[in-house]
Amino acid sequence: MSDKGKAIFVLVIFLAVAAFPFLYNRAASSASPKIELNTPVIDAMRVKQCILPKEKMRHDHMQLLNRWRDEVVRDGQREFGEIDGVKYEKSLQKTCLHCHSNKAEFCDRCHTYASVSVYCWDCHLAPKENKP
Ligand code: HEC
Ligand code: HEC
Ligand code: HEC
Repeated sequence: MSDKGKAIFVLVIFLAVAAFPFLYNRAASSASPKIELNTPVIDAMRVKQCILPKEKMRHDHMQLLNRWRDEVVRDGQREFGEIDGVKYEKSLQKTCLHCHSNKAEFCDRCHTYASVSVYCWDCHLAPKENKP
């Protein structure tokens, strides 16, 4: 190997080692971006639960919202049911954002992380954040 070849070889190894913790961290945290679950409404719940089990919500909330929209807009079916003794409608604002009132630290943080742009807020009102 020429000296130049050796230098490049050493550089490549160095970069691979230097990049490892960064790549490793990225891979580990992509499974769970830092989202804030606590809100006044959720803190006050006796049993902390979402519309569906957490894993299902994580993967299927988009389909759920689309279904709700169709049921409300096409069929006028607004009623959803009870969670923890409170009645809810099929509504983005009145339901999802009633509990998840910290849209910036919850919905937005995860969407930014996943590079998803959500256009719903062009029309639907986002809650006034209770920023400190
Ligand atoms: C162009 C404006 C517009 C955009 C963009 C939009 N919506 Fe809506 N949406 C409406 C209107 C108007 C209604 C009917 C409101 C009603 O009857 O209460 C509605 C109703 C709904 C409802 C049922 C009622 C409620 O209170 O939420 C859901 C759920 C919903 N939309 C979800 C979404 C989601 C999810 C997105 C983004 C993927 C989205 N919408 C984007 C205009 C919009
Ligand atoms: C009654 C309060 C309540 C409502 C309404 C509600 N959520 Fe939740 N949500 C929660 C709670 C509590 C958790 C945590 C559940 C757990 O830890 O098992 C959660 C978890 C989630 C998660 C998973 C977060 C994670 O850790 O990965 C997503 C995504 C989510 N909710 C989105 C929504 C959407 C979208 C709606 C509206 C369709 C909604 N939620 C309506 C209370 C609510
Ligand atoms: C744990 C991470 C996470 C949380 C928390 C979360 N989302 Fe999402 N959301 C995603 C991912 C990932 C996608 C893209 C999924 C896909 O394309 O299949 C998405 C997509 C969506 C979409 C569809 C966007 C489109 O245009 O296709 C809507 C609507 C949505 N989320 C609403 C919400 C709302 C409202 C909340 C807060 C109440 C929320 N999400 C919280 C991860 C999250």
